[in-house]
Amino acid sequence: MPSQDAPQPPAPSRTTVPHPARLAVLVSGTGSNLAALLAAQSEPDYPARVVAVISDKPDAGGLEVARAAGVATVVVRPADFPDRAAWDAALARAVDAVDPAWVVCAGFMRILGPAFLGRYAGRVLNTHPALLPSFPGAHAVRDALAHGVAVTGCTLHLVDEGVDTGPILAQRAVDVLPDDDETSLHERIKVAERAMLVETIAAVARRGVRVDGRRARIGG
Ligand code: GAR
Repeated sequence: MPSQDAPQPPAPSRTTVPHPARLAVLVSGTGSNLAALLAAQSEPDYPARVVAVISDKPDAGGLEVARAAGVATVVVRPADFPDRAAWDAALARAVDAVDPAWVVCAGFMRILGPAFLGRYAGRVLNTHPALLPSFPGAHAVRDALAHGVAVTGCTLHLVDEGVDTGPILAQRAVDVLPDDDETSLHERIKVAERAMLVETIAAVARRGVRVDGRRARIGG
């Protein structure tokens, strides 16, 4: 029997916010997932709004997508800071400035550090092009193909201090076809991923997220 002093597991936590929920979206790439969110929010009852798009790369296509939609953009380049910790703190300040309810990594190819996650714990979501916990990291589609899987897909998960290890909120499966290369498979995954992102962000914005250990549930 555990003694009274034994460490207790963390109590389940629940995050809900008023809506429309403010989203800060972090991008490094072309921004098709961001574009899907922006298209969804043109419907008046979509319960979330992208209030800023922040990138580590001044030439990220996602910044153009944001500007075309009239959304504020910010670039926080690692090269402009002496070390990773200083960049991470600057990124947190850029996000603080727009006061988001949720931070969405939509093709953001950098690891968030302790300063950022300490501030936004439980409120950072990441979309990843594989069925986690298989194929974490920056080359998920290539790694899935190289492994010879018949089914892969995409995952939306909460970000923790690991690489693609946080509690999972949603997943979609995508068949690997015999002639697939990395580009064709990734494009098909992104079709599923954009729908997953739009649908899951709406559910998260409306009902919040409850986390109990490794298990994350929307609402509840
Ligand atoms: C998406 O497939 C996303 O899952 C992936 O980058 C792509 C961005 O596409 N992210 C990662 O691989 C993160 N490890 P987009 O720029 O067209 O939205």
